[in-house]
Amino acid sequence: MSRANWGSRLGFILAASGSAVGLGAIWKFPYVAGKNGGGVFLLAYLACVFTVGIALLLAEMVIGRAANRSATTAFRDLKGGLWPWAGRLSVLCIFIVMAYYSVVGGWVIAYIGKSITGEALGHSTTELSSAFSKFIADPASSLFYTALFLGVTVAVVLGGVQKGIERMSKVLMPALFILMLVLIARSLTLPGAWEGVRYFITPDFSKLTSAMVVDALGLAFFSLSLGMGIIISYGSYVDKDTNLAGATLWISILATLASVLAGFMVLPAVFAFGVDPAAGPGLTFITMPAIFAQMPFGQAWAIAFFLLLLFAALTSSVSIVEPIVSYFIDEFGWERRRAAYITTAAVFIASIPAALSFGPMAETKLFGKTAFDLMDYATSNIMMPAGGILVAIFAGWIIWPRIHSELLSNGGGRWIPAFRGICAVIAPVMIGVIWVHNL
Ligand code: PHE
Repeated sequence: MSRANWGSRLGFILAASGSAVGLGAIWKFPYVAGKNGGGVFLLAYLACVFTVGIALLLAEMVIGRAANRSATTAFRDLKGGLWPWAGRLSVLCIFIVMAYYSVVGGWVIAYIGKSITGEALGHSTTELSSAFSKFIADPASSLFYTALFLGVTVAVVLGGVQKGIERMSKVLMPALFILMLVLIARSLTLPGAWEGVRYFITPDFSKLTSAMVVDALGLAFFSLSLGMGIIISYGSYVDKDTNLAGATLWISILATLASVLAGFMVLPAVFAFGVDPAAGPGLTFITMPAIFAQMPFGQAWAIAFFLLLLFAALTSSVSIVEPIVSYFIDEFGWERRRAAYITTAAVFIASIPAALSFGPMAETKLFGKTAFDLMDYATSNIMMPAGGILVAIFAGWIIWPRIHSELLSNGGGRWIPAFRGICAVIAPVMIGVIWVHNL
């Protein structure tokens, strides 16, 4: 049985890159790289993306296409037994991801408003930093903007406008990349910026720690939307003659390019303005307004930047919410609208501790982490890689003959043994070693 297909190969690549490119690249990558020593982190991140990341991206796509079903059902149809639990685990994981992703999405919406009023712009990063801290600490506005981001996401999911979004992304995604290039040009020409470039591209191996490698691995999963079955459901809509290997390469390149560009945009400015590169989740929000303040028509650039960032965040958040909603529809026969409202309400409740993590609940910690940090750590660094191990074993061992014939029917290639080697051995071992070492 065939499902509705993407209009074109480009449509599929755009949709999958839309899921990948989002807050992960532009908000998370710069601050995690900043915190973890810059260049050495970049190296570890690229190494994770272009080994385990790219192989698992392909594995998820092939599983999805072979089964023609989304994650939980795909595992059941292809093998059954306990495997559908891999799908259920992934639904739980993306549920938690959405709970804290909405908080950051809310910050973006608020910064669109603050750019329009001009309040977001400022020359002094000390002032920008305290304004940001004050803003995220306020419980009422945090909850309000979190709910707003969730509301917009669910409106897209229910509004049947996905096709429209796909069309808009053909224009808006390139626009985001071009805007980043302009902002990089400004960032790089600030006095003192090269210090930041050096920090970002020269690996300092004394900063090579296992905690850093776990972060790099986690960010590779997060930024490619991997290990949560999302790409499995996307793959189920691809027709049989789309070359999946080519699509995989494109998506990984676009996603990494977005992250690397964000690094070149934020980190040089961090050094030019004397911000601490380890300042944490506010890094992009503190430095970008200082860059805009140094540009003619700064306010217009600020509005454009946060609007495009919101669009990128929405194409990702829609891809997070959609599989949760489909799960309830497919597994429990719920009606779509009901599934969407219940999902949204549940995500909002789960997002409350994350939204309050920078204010009233800043001191409420578990394992030394606030709710926000814990949700991020547990999903990116544990659940996604765990999901990745399951996908790798599933594709590399459990249903390998099926995967193999799917790849051969697509023209095959000399890389197939390498691909199997990564799935069957390297990915599980590498993730296992990184975890154990970190303990
Ligand atoms: N990859 C998205 C981003 O970088 C986030 C995401 C995570 C999307 C998990 C889907 C699933 O913003």
